[in-house]
Amino acid sequence: MSDHFDVQAIRAKFPALDQQVHGKELVYLDNAATTQKPQAVIDAVRAFYERDCSNVHRGVHLLSQRATIAYESSRTRIKEFLHASDSREIVFTRGTTEAINLVAHSFVRPRLKPGDEVLISTMEHHSNIVPWQLLCEEKGAVLKVIPINDRGEIMLDEYEALLSERTCIVALVHVSNALGTVNPVRHMVDLAHNKGIPVLLDGAQAVPHSVVNVAELDCDFYTFSAHKVYGPTGIGVLFGKREHLLEMVPYQGGGDMILSVSFEKTTYNEPPHRFEAGTPNIEGVLGLSAALDFVDEVGLENIATYEHSLLEEATAAVKAIPGIRLVGDAKERAGALSFVMDGVHPHDIGTILDTEGVAVRAGHHCAQPVMARFGVSATVRASFAMYNTSEEIAALVRGLNMVKEVFG
Ligand SMILES: Cc1ncc(COP(=O)(O)O)c(C=O)c1O
Repeated sequence: MSDHFDVQAIRAKFPALDQQVHGKELVYLDNAATTQKPQAVIDAVRAFYERDCSNVHRGVHLLSQRATIAYESSRTRIKEFLHASDSREIVFTRGTTEAINLVAHSFVRPRLKPGDEVLISTMEHHSNIVPWQLLCEEKGAVLKVIPINDRGEIMLDEYEALLSERTCIVALVHVSNALGTVNPVRHMVDLAHNKGIPVLLDGAQAVPHSVVNVAELDCDFYTFSAHKVYGPTGIGVLFGKREHLLEMVPYQGGGDMILSVSFEKTTYNEPPHRFEAGTPNIEGVLGLSAALDFVDEVGLENIATYEHSLLEEATAAVKAIPGIRLVGDAKERAGALSFVMDGVHPHDIGTILDTEGVAVRAGHHCAQPVMARFGVSATVRASFAMYNTSEEIAALVRGLNMVKEVFG
């Protein structure tokens, strides 16, 4: 491994990694669900409550000014992280789920007519399916689905054929949480834009594993959740092109999203504040900013290279166990490895691994349609972060061999 990448030094910065579960060293391989938090993030949240605790945007006193400056500087920090051109293109949400719902409600809903289409893929997380289903039902529109091949890759010809003059938006996962597939989103955005169709990218599983440059991607919307990139829960980001945000109707009504209120007429604030009604998750925003500082210090390119080698090692080791079948074997994958074992339910595998200290996810990963595509109801998913090691992959393999013995 590169000289720059000292995994033990990185591990030492994550207090939760240093513990035993069921008397065994914790091997945390459920990072696609949520990552552990470095001390720097815990400290940032704590510092807010210990020194700067105050509401934002509404106080003349010093604490409120400090909190407001820290909150708005974090917006600029996130703009830089995503390579957006304007911090007013960064909207804070509760997470990816809320960001997608916001776009569905405020951007697509006013434009969608009966018979129009929303285009998603087979490998979407439920949060990028259900908001569109609700909307299509309400508007008499049609949800269209891009098929995937047996490796778990988007079928690009079919995608192109599905882009029509009725398509109102393409909403697509950048990296699949269930399969680990990295989609060719740059190319897919181009194809949609050639037909004048806007594109939302769900980056929940991409942001932790790769450099994301929204300017280069040229996507219209990009979403992610802080908790999957070493930040706190309950906070996430919607990037939206300024011209779109300006024309979007409010999402929720309340404080902060208005310019003036009377019983006769209320006028709305400019984006991004128009979409941030009520007291925001201030400590979450500060924690997210600290998380991105942490990630940048290690270097996303270093992280991506390291994790890629871990994923290759894990894939080869797991594949070599007789009776195990990978679910999704795309040429380009990041972060996660999904598999099933002959004759053993994934929940049983997850439970036995847990007794060995190995935390994996067993289930449908909030992506039931892609499970159905592969003819399974659930898989075991091992997902990786910058702090995982080869020794942990060995522990996973030992645990899987133990499962085979138990179910012999
Ligand atoms: C690809 C993908 N999209 C969306 C989500 C939803 O994220 P959140 O629950 O943080 O809103 C997840 C979470 O697992 C995900 O993996």
